[in-house]
Order: sequence, then structure tokens, then C-alpha cells
Amino acid sequence: MCGIVGYVGNNNAKDVIIDGLKRLEYRGYDSAGIAVIRDGKLQVRKHVGGIENLEALIGTDKLESHIGIGHTRWATHGAPSDVNAHPHTDQSGEIAIVHNGIIENYQELRQELIENYGVSFRSETDTEVIAQLIGVIYKEKKDLLDAVYGALEKMRGAYAIAAIAADEPDKIVAVRKDAPLIAGLGKGSNFIASDIPALLKYVKEIYLIENNEVVLVTADAVKIFDEQRNEVKRDVFHVTWDADAAEKEGYEHFMLKEIYEQPKGLADTLGRRLSPEGKIDLEGIALRKEEIEKLSKIYIVACGTAYHAGLVGKYVIEKLVKIPVEVDVASEFRYREPLIDENTLFVAISQSGETLDTLAALREAKAKGARVLSVVNVVGSSVARESDDVFYTWAGPEIAVASTKAYTTQLMCMYMLALYMGLEKGTIDRAYYDRFIADLKAVPDKLTEFLKDTEHIERLACRLYNKEQVFFIGRGLDAAVSYEGSLKLKEISYINSFAIAAGELKHGTIALMEPGTLVIALACQDFLYEKMVSNVQEIKARGAYVLAVAKEGNEAVGEQSDEIIYIPKIRDEIAPLLSVVPLQLFAYFVARERGCNIDKPKNLAKSVTVE
Ligand code: F6R
Repeated sequence: MCGIVGYVGNNNAKDVIIDGLKRLEYRGYDSAGIAVIRDGKLQVRKHVGGIENLEALIGTDKLESHIGIGHTRWATHGAPSDVNAHPHTDQSGEIAIVHNGIIENYQELRQELIENYGVSFRSETDTEVIAQLIGVIYKEKKDLLDAVYGALEKMRGAYAIAAIAADEPDKIVAVRKDAPLIAGLGKGSNFIASDIPALLKYVKEIYLIENNEVVLVTADAVKIFDEQRNEVKRDVFHVTWDADAAEKEGYEHFMLKEIYEQPKGLADTLGRRLSPEGKIDLEGIALRKEEIEKLSKIYIVACGTAYHAGLVGKYVIEKLVKIPVEVDVASEFRYREPLIDENTLFVAISQSGETLDTLAALREAKAKGARVLSVVNVVGSSVARESDDVFYTWAGPEIAVASTKAYTTQLMCMYMLALYMGLEKGTIDRAYYDRFIADLKAVPDKLTEFLKDTEHIERLACRLYNKEQVFFIGRGLDAAVSYEGSLKLKEISYINSFAIAAGELKHGTIALMEPGTLVIALACQDFLYEKMVSNVQEIKARGAYVLAVAKEGNEAVGEQSDEIIYIPKIRDEIAPLLSVVPLQLFAYFVARERGCNIDKPKNLAKSVTVE
């Protein structure tokens, strides 16, 4: 996610800011930049790629200055590029700003600035709109604080912004609205940042800025103002963590942090495309009624965890839209001869958007005439760029190699696609759609509640961590989730785990059941529940040790099993959004107990750009 660092004081701003940005690298970003004021003029340097690219661009120039702002960008509006990187300046080149978040009415403001002030824009970003807006107001007010207040009256959205003006080289003005912002309190130096880790090398005393507050930072003072411009008194917050803990926001590993970020990722992914009236808005995705009606087949192609999300996608799209869906792993799809024509929709799912096999499969499908829609987390990535349309997940950067929040947000996109297409095609009615949407909206809160108490799962993991093999079983959508649970466990704990549709057990795999064999049995599909209870009885009869996952209130399976984890009650179709979470946590706690390198498991990479 984007990061902000600002500095004013006795040291060279560039060095402090670059150092701070490096400490935010873990959050993921695709370009970086800095602006300082030297001899009354703004000096801006920005570059796509890592901070090392920015440093190479700056070269031996010390960029000597006592004030500056810097940014790492995670693209949302406009692809990662030099020109879209922050800081952005106004037309006169006197104001520079960095920004995290989104300006919802930026199109409207952009138009107004073009028509009324003759502003010409250089980038595609919403951020440049803020810079130009502040610039226009500054011309009249000649005061940065006034200009920022003026801009706030016009902007809608969620953001944190820091601004500097060449004519006022002693101050940074920053503002927070629904995006994190802190001010660091030094001696003869003060700081602004989006996150604590950026500043920990320099300060341990900070102000936590609240929503709708504006901060005026000079070398000697940090003043906080409310919306009405009254000065606000704030208690100093003493940071007690070290830099490493701070990056993980107190979580022991990124994987755990990302598991806990799932309610937010789900709410964001849904919220971005859901109107207040509950209508899914696929703006920018050409899937009109006529196009949906013409579709004869859908391929969902992906790798690993993203492939598992595709399995759920198949199930819901076939059920709600009544179009046949084939799901394939990309490395297989690209080497067979798939039957594709112009009535085929090809859906690529990829967190990174850089997985080579997925990209190659996409190219193959496109060459054969399929329309390509991708579900991607990283804006501007190769898969996103090469697709006809993109449905972004809003998981935020995923740092841990083992995918968690990307998976659940991919599932959310699958549900939304199925609901949208089903309603357009008339295969579901409005009442069904509304109930489904209401159930989806309830998921983030249910998940937050579930995540409040994970001790039971931790205790089970502490007891079962030394198993040599684990089986995951389930039926219907539970089978799809079993594959994902099994992959999570094997990749981070190195336990040999295997997932199978429960009904298939007796066609071979049941031969492996012995006294004490650990089987994780998902029973979260009400209409298959009794069948699942029978499957559990079958393996129990062979001595297996069964850990079941079921919905609250479904106690029969618990009575048959050795251990049970309950998830909140939820509609069958969307149960995977919840049922996968205890499996992620189980894998995590087991791996921790085994002393594994959880965030960077051996032999694995976050982005697989080789065949
Ligand atoms: C497993 C995992 C991988 C990825 C796979 C595809 O936890 O992360 O299986 O899901 O390599 O990666 P993306 O989604 O980036 O295409």
C-alpha cells in the first residue's frame, strides 16, 4: 500500500525520507518519489520500481534541503509509471503533494480545473487533481494551510495527504481522512508519516492524527487543527515496539496479519463495486446483457491458490448464471487445445498479475478470440494490462508467500461476477440477488467476530503439529476449500497433506486411513451435511482422528469427530469465505509450532515469473 514520509528539520531531508520509505517497503509498492525545496524551488525526483531506482535517479546529487516529502505508491488510478508516481506538483510547479487513498470525485474536479482554470494534466492519477486544486487555491490565498483547507471543502474520498509549497519552505501541511497519518516529534526536527515504522529510527514519540484533522509541521512544532480550524490538544503516544514488530503492526508474521486483514479486504472488494442501493457496478468491464447472453462457455484459469478460488467460481457461476464453466491450472491449459471461440469468456485469476503460466494461458486464449477478464490484485501488472477487462481485488499488498487475503477477495469477485451475470441474464431474480448481497455484506463482521477467538485452533495446532501427513476432505464447495486448506498446510509447514472430495475416499484413498491418521473434514454445506456425517463415520471406523469444521448449530458431525471448529452460520454458497479461515490459521499455528519460516517458506516465491 502507499506510504508517506515527510521531514522538516536540521538534517538532510532526502536522507531521512529515503530511509523512512525503505522502512515501508514491506507494504508493497510499485514506484517511489521525493520532493524537497532547495533555493526556493521544488526539486522532484520519482521513478517506477523500487527505491533503488529512485536512488539511482538521484545519483550523487545530495538534494541538500531541510524539508521534503516522499512516497511509495501502490497503483490505484493509472498504471505504475514515472509520471503517475508521487509526488505530484501543480501547474506552476510550486506545490508538491503526496497522497494515500482515493479521491472519489476526482473526475469531476479534474473537469472543473480544466474548464475553469485551464489546467493541463500530466498524469492519470487522482493525486494530481489534488495538487492542481491546492495550486489553484494557493494562487489566491498565498498560504499553504489556507489552500489545503480550501481543497478539503471540495474533495470527497478517503485519504492522507502531505503538501509543501516552494514559497513556504518551513512547513508541511498534512491531512487525514480515513487513511492513517501520524506526526513524529523530534528535537529541532519533526516528521509526518503514514505508518509508525517509517519513523522509528528517529522518534518514539508521536501524535496519532484523527480523521478530518489537519497538521501543520515545522521544525519546532507540530500543530493539529480540527475541521473548523480550532487547534486540538493531543496526548503524546510513546511507541514501545521495535521497527520489526511495527512493520507487522504487532503481529508475529505477515501471514497472520494478512489473515486478520481479510474482513477489510472483503468489505473493500465488495464496497468498491456496490452502489448504496445494493447494485453491483461493473463499470469499465464490458459485460452487458447481450454479451452475457451470447456466452457459450467460460474458462477460469489460474495457478495454486488462485486456481482454488476458480473452483468456487465455477460452482457459483454455473449455479447462478447457467453457463458451463471449466477451471484449469494455467500450466496445463496452455499446452492443451482448449475449445475457444468469440463466445468464450476467459477469466484469469492472479494475485500478483505476473504469474508466467497464467499470462501465457491468457495470451493463448486471446489469440484464439476469447474475451479476457482478469481478477487481479496488483494494479497495472502484466495480467491486468493484457486483459480486455480487469476486476480488481482490494486485498492490499500481500507480503507473505502463502496467499490468504488474496484468496478470499478473489472469492468475493467470483460471487459478484456470478450475481451480476445471473441478474442480467435473468437466471436469478432480484429477491434472490438482494438476499445474497445482504449475506455477502454480513461476512466481514462475521469474520471479525470469528477472528476474536482463535485460541481453540491454536491449541489444536499445538497438539497436532507433529503429524507426518494430513488429509482434508469435503463435498461440493467444501472440497474446493479442502484443496486450499491442504495447500496452505503443506507450503508453510512442510507436512505432506492431501485433499480429496469426500465421496471419492472409498475409491482408493481410504486405504491410507489408519488409527491416528489426521483428517480435517469440512461439513459446511447444509445440503450435503448428512452425506458428510456418513463420510466421517466411515473414516472414524478405520481409526482416523477427525477434526471437523462445521457451521454453528450443526452438532452431529461434532459428535462423530474427535475435535470440532465451528464457523458462524452462513449461506452454503459463501461458506468458503469463512470456512477457509480456520484452515489458514491451523496451517499458520502448526508451521509456527514446527519452527518454520512462515512468511518465506523454502523453495517458494511470491511471484512465479518462470515456467
Ligand atoms: C499459495 C500461493 C500460490 C499462488 C500462485 C498463483 O499460497 O500463493 O499458489 O496462488 O503462485 O499466484 P498469483 O495469484 O500471483 O498468480
